[in-house]
Amino acid sequence: MGGLRRLEYRGYDSTGVGLVDGDRIAWAKKAGKLANLDAVLEGNALPASTTGIGHTRWATHGAPTDANAHPHLDAADRVAVVHNGIIENFMVLRAELEAAGYEFLSETDTEVVVHLLHRELQQQDDLSEAVRAVCRRLEGAFTLVFADALNPGVVVGARRNSPLVVGRGEGENFLGSDVAAFIDYTAEAIELGQDQVVTITADAIDVTDFHGNPAETTAYTVDWDVTAAEKGGYEWFMTKEIEEQPKAVADTLLGRLDQDGHLQLDEMRLTDDELREIDKIIVIACGTASYAGLVAKYAIEHWTRIPCEVELASEFRYRDPIIDRSTLVVAISQSGETMDTLMAIRYARQQRARVLSICNTNGSTIPRESDAVIYTHAGPEVAVASTKGFLSQVVACYLLGLYLAQAKGVKYGDEISSIIDELHQVPAGIQRMIDEGDQVRKLAAELVDRRSFLFLGRHVGFPVALEGALKLKELAYVHAEGFAAGELKHGPIALVEKGLPMFVVVPPRARDQLQEKILSNIQEVRARGAYTIVLVEDGDDSVVPFADVVIRLPKVPTLLQPLVATVPLQIFACELAELLGHDVDQPRNLAKSVTVE
Ligand code: G6P
Repeated sequence: MGGLRRLEYRGYDSTGVGLVDGDRIAWAKKAGKLANLDAVLEGNALPASTTGIGHTRWATHGAPTDANAHPHLDAADRVAVVHNGIIENFMVLRAELEAAGYEFLSETDTEVVVHLLHRELQQQDDLSEAVRAVCRRLEGAFTLVFADALNPGVVVGARRNSPLVVGRGEGENFLGSDVAAFIDYTAEAIELGQDQVVTITADAIDVTDFHGNPAETTAYTVDWDVTAAEKGGYEWFMTKEIEEQPKAVADTLLGRLDQDGHLQLDEMRLTDDELREIDKIIVIACGTASYAGLVAKYAIEHWTRIPCEVELASEFRYRDPIIDRSTLVVAISQSGETMDTLMAIRYARQQRARVLSICNTNGSTIPRESDAVIYTHAGPEVAVASTKGFLSQVVACYLLGLYLAQAKGVKYGDEISSIIDELHQVPAGIQRMIDEGDQVRKLAAELVDRRSFLFLGRHVGFPVALEGALKLKELAYVHAEGFAAGELKHGPIALVEKGLPMFVVVPPRARDQLQEKILSNIQEVRARGAYTIVLVEDGDDSVVPFADVVIRLPKVPTLLQPLVATVPLQIFACELAELLGHDVDQPRNLAKSVTVE
């Protein structure tokens, strides 16, 4: 149950466990969060067992009911399966199995797998061989894990597209969607490749492809310990993760300059010659990561003079994008498993583009399938809504921009090290925003009954506005929208009415023109009755007459302002959600790592 608890952020529509118990699988499953299953087991504990599987579900096919919860079992409770992903040909398989007399108890695509396995086990006893035969019939994306009461002491897993990692213990081995599942027991992990089947017993791990040929794997040691994945006295993971942001940013910057002031990126497997060929950059990502990409565009174009587009991963490959060998596709993903992003990079590579990923999870699929990687060093992020993941992605994007500028020769050592020096000042600024969090917490209490919020920004303040609005939607379930301040007059201003809370991110004064324009925008909404909450740097009093609330930001260069300006918006959303009685870490309908398209 501890392992499931650590994976619950991946989905919390239902949970279930199945344990080998003599010649059958003893199981329990329940709709809703893990606490519901805990309650079921309290009154009716399963027998002790050393072989078992478990699952937390984010519903795709079939509503989040008890019947659709995993594991799914055959009629005799001999074999059980849990599944992440989507079996795309399940309709055909279901019809075939129903014709053969199999009765289905759920609406899931997963249930076909257990019946296929049951049928296969009528022909042969070898569970691994039977699983391989089943996998060869499946289309789509899947991580599958099986237990068979007649093969006690064995768990077999299989993966295509969705993640699965092995934990190597002493006298015990584990499988999990990510290492958090077994970090209490071992930090030694093995990455599995695409289309592989793994068989574990207490003492052995055997990996093959879907045809039984021995397969190559990569072992690694997880570089964070169990305390990093615990709340450590905080009520929510999200509050802890907000407070970890100074460290996440500092760690992502750590050790990037060599003695001569040259920027070094450890898994930059692309040579300077290759990077010099790049004439276009396309950043692809989903959700919050895509806003990190929007921030990146300003920095990358400014520093490198290479055109940079930002596109949602789910849209990218369907619009026939113009990409070739001289295009660098930058995939940003905290988890490294988001299916939309994974499919987009596969498409990009088919078109011969070079792919660089920015990722927070060692050994995950997206970096493994990329030509180069910049790892963010934020540590595990558990709250579904991303905070430290976002800030460290922004920092990694800056490092990439500077690295490209260095490779192209448009920026030299001293310029680069002075920007890196400025970046090193930022964690202190983030810390200050955290220390001053009470101001926004009080504001959240004051605005707790509002059902609509707008966010305005210009330049890099625009993605900050988008991220501020997304956080409120995700956590507080209220209407929130971010706009480019200049667009306001072209439509959104119609939404403004008396008392509407409007956050405005004011660019640093150094950017005179930008700053002046946004001042006019604030006046425009104020004149129409908006309640203006203005984020503005220290010493800039020009907005004070038009602000109902002033949130002070430390002075930082314009490009770096998102790193400090985002923090109060995160705290505001977190506090508002808490006041509304929502689960801050596990907002309704969401999952942290969405491994379906
Ligand atoms: C999910 C999460 C978001 C996250 C997005 C991208 O939708 O709920 O918080 O921003 O995925 O995740 P990634 O792991 O690719 O950064």
